[in-house]
Amino acid sequence: LNNGIVDTLGRPLKDLRISVTDRCNFRCQYCMPAELFGPDFAFLPRQKLLSFEEMTRVTRVFASLGVDKLRITGGEPLMRKDLPEFIEMISKVEGIRDIAMTTNGSLLAQQAQALKKAGLHRVTVSLDSLDEERFGKMNGRGISVTRVLEGIEAAASEGLGVKINMVVQKGVNEQDVVPMAKYFYEKGHTLRFIEFMDVGNSNGWQLDQVVPSRQIIEAIDRELPLEPIDPNYYGEVASRYRYRGTTKEIGLISSVTQAFCSTCTRMRISAEGKIYTCLFASEGTNLREPLREGINDQQLRQMIVDVWENRGDRYSEIRLTNTTELNQREKIEMSHIGG
Ligand code: GTP
Ligand code: 5AD
Ligand code: SF4
Ligand code: SF4
Repeated sequence: LNNGIVDTLGRPLKDLRISVTDRCNFRCQYCMPAELFGPDFAFLPRQKLLSFEEMTRVTRVFASLGVDKLRITGGEPLMRKDLPEFIEMISKVEGIRDIAMTTNGSLLAQQAQALKKAGLHRVTVSLDSLDEERFGKMNGRGISVTRVLEGIEAAASEGLGVKINMVVQKGVNEQDVVPMAKYFYEKGHTLRFIEFMDVGNSNGWQLDQVVPSRQIIEAIDRELPLEPIDPNYYGEVASRYRYRGTTKEIGLISSVTQAFCSTCTRMRISAEGKIYTCLFASEGTNLREPLREGINDQQLRQMIVDVWENRGDRYSEIRLTNTTELNQREKIEMSHIGG
């Protein structure tokens, strides 16, 4: 394994997920409910955010440790001013072969071209319904489906890879599963269904709001027959299914019913420069202060190695047998580490 490092469970460090802002122009009930993230909510002030230079420096150190895949997240990453400049900076880091971005798509149409030009490879656009009323309610801001679809088409026509993420919540958007599958089958974009998770402490998660992936597969298979296919790479989060007789596919992200911690190769860094070894972590390790106090690359590298080599997180696996106690623990909010 070249110069790579492994954690206490033997998992290599391969991906870095970089949150570039904690702000978002949506208020999805399952992530940033409007009641809690109101007009007076204190988002991170500018000086607390890592600068593009600081983030690029950290990325370079991660790349030297074997990370070859980056994902830009938020909040909504396109709320960060001049994001294409940052993409261009990290696209030049040696060893990085894949740069993707998770976005809500609402600001994508106007930025797709610049992002592609800067070196972004792919986008994953979140979209939970094709029904205007339900979608407007789910995103908490009445943003239209059309606007997101325009973003998706703009990205595709610029030549960016496109996937769609749909969080499925019982009693909220279950009825949209099959229409979404049909729509993106026609468009030829891979749609992934995500089981509603107990991320953070503000979305009021209950196990009975989860629609197990198994049920989603069955519902789609009745109308458009499916067959399972192999993962694209080690540790792929989504299980893949193909529409029989085609090359079109869907993915199922079953972090509640079929946890995938055993192959989790992901480190996350928040916009304020804390690194987290799990989506459900309570605490991160602050890199910002050391960076601003003049730490050198060798020391920075050692801090990261220490964090990864001590890592033993497997939250979703533990949750399989213990849903209530765990969920009450203090956890980082999704809007800080972007999923
Ligand atoms: P590809 O590189 O396209 O395979 O992307 P990906 O599967 O990493 O995609 P993405 O970042 O879009 O992840 C999809 C969703 O899966 C995220 O928004 C999270 O909700 C969930 N997810 C991703 N990584 C993890 C993880 O490490 N643990 C858990 N529990 N969920 C995760
Ligand atoms: N459960 C599952 N997925 C979630 N996301 C945000 N909150 C949750 C949750 N509670 C998804 C978003 C987006 C990505 C950033 O994470 O829909 O696709
Ligand atoms: Fe914003 Fe994405 Fe969270 Fe929705 S899920 S509030 S779009 S960061
Ligand atoms: Fe990785 Fe934590 Fe998700 Fe498990 S729950 S896959 S350890 S981020």
